[in-house]
Amino acid sequence: MSLYIWIKAIHVIFVIAWMAGLLIFPRYKLHQLKSKPGDELFETMKDASARLRRIILTPALLIVWALGITMLLLNQTLLSSGWMHAKLALVLILSGVHGYFVSIGRKIDAGSEAVSPRTLKMLNELPFVIMIGVVIFAVVKPF
Ligand code: HEM
Repeated sequence: MSLYIWIKAIHVIFVIAWMAGLLIFPRYKLHQLKSKPGDELFETMKDASARLRRIILTPALLIVWALGITMLLLNQTLLSSGWMHAKLALVLILSGVHGYFVSIGRKIDAGSEAVSPRTLKMLNELPFVIMIGVVIFAVVKPF
């Protein structure tokens, strides 16, 4: 069994972890938006989201990128594939959404209403929608 196929398997495992983190993190922040600093709910969600970011969200992002780039270095023909270009464009947007969630998370921790609960609820769906596109490009390789 080739090293490449193991790297791909571990890549997909951490993709799932990253997606889970991106879908849970805004939920924790939504609870904080509905309470205020000092409240038990606010402090519990603040701690839970900090742990989620430290243990799952950030490590998963880094490992997905590291293993993805490793596969590109091992299989450089992929760099000229249209589906890989489209996939990487969506993954850059997904990484931007990650960064945005972390930055508004910090503001919410400081007690500011960085975003309305309604907007955050809508943004919470974005990673899933983007992931659908990425997986179709990565598995179907349509062009
Ligand atoms: C972060 C930057 C990423 C890079 C550089 C990257 C790169 C790659 C590469 C080179 C492969 C192997 C393709 C092949 O050999 O056919 C791969 C496979 C895969 N990637 Fe990524 N990827 C990244 C992120 C993601 C993300 C965010 C997702 C999902 C949301 C994803 C889902 C997949 C899947 C499902 C496969 C397996 C495709 C298959 O062979 O069936 N990747 N990725």
